[in-house]
Amino acid sequence: MNDAPPERTFRYLADLLERHSGQELSPTRYWRVETVLKPVMRAHALADLPALVWALSAGSNRVLERQTIEAMLNNETSFFRDQASFALLTGPALTALREARSATRRLRIWSAACSTGQEAYSLAMTLSDDRANWQGWTIEIVGSDISHSVVERAREGRYSQFEIQRGMPIALMLRYFARDGDDWVARDNLRSMVIFRQQNLLEPLRMASDFDIVLCRNMIMYLQQEHRPAVFDQLARSMRGDGLLMLGAAETVIGQTDRFRASRDYRGLYECATMRSERSAA
Ligand SMILES: C[S@@+](CC[C@H](N)C(=O)[O-])C[C@H]1O[C@@H](n2cnc3c(N)ncnc32)[C@H](O)[C@@H]1O
Repeated sequence: MNDAPPERTFRYLADLLERHSGQELSPTRYWRVETVLKPVMRAHALADLPALVWALSAGSNRVLERQTIEAMLNNETSFFRDQASFALLTGPALTALREARSATRRLRIWSAACSTGQEAYSLAMTLSDDRANWQGWTIEIVGSDISHSVVERAREGRYSQFEIQRGMPIALMLRYFARDGDDWVARDNLRSMVIFRQQNLLEPLRMASDFDIVLCRNMIMYLQQEHRPAVFDQLARSMRGDGLLMLGAAETVIGQTDRFRASRDYRGLYECATMRSERSAA
């Protein structure tokens, strides 16, 4: 006997995820849906996926809907992810921006689709370790994600032993995190450097939009093709004209948008297309 849920059950869940987040759930990834939704089904006393879909299709349980969508999102992340590109951003690119902003001494960085916060905290630790060069600056680091639950976790700054070890040099871990039982928790001085908020990148931005650096890594690659231009437009609008965009190692703007161009100076980083034409005209 085959007890696998019918295809239409998975299709319903994939549609729900796509409608709210733009994220694609291809049939090759259906196998993981049942596993990730087990805690949600347990919490709502639903026996299996068809029962969950039946409850969702009644349309009145917003909490169930949100929890279902959030459980299906891919939140994979780690500290200092893609070390070489991260080092390029926080080394030469940031040094040049410090020069460019020396009059205002103000720097704003946005980690869009930040998951549980490792990317934003990695930036904060890097800047804090280099504080001698940033004396007197106003630095704002914002982390955001569509998922309320990962934003909550990011705010808490609490990581398991497995999570904290992924990508984190031990000296930084000891300097910026304190042990609490089996977990490691960001110390107040680190937590106070980052603001976390919920933001769906398919919806209008609910924050000031003059970022100098925007990181949107490993989100667009799972986004349905039709939503990509709008998300790139949103990122371009959020940035200052000479700001820099960083995507994930497997992502590119080529063939996706004309709002960004590969940076001539920094491999793997992108600048606003208007910036390039202004420079060429000069
Ligand atoms: C794979 S994680 C990447 C985390 C981090 N940027 C990194 O590269 O390590 C992708 C994140 O994108 C978020 N996400 C998916 N769709 C989104 C949307 N429409 N708006 C904002 N965030 C979204 C997911 O919740 C998830 O936390």
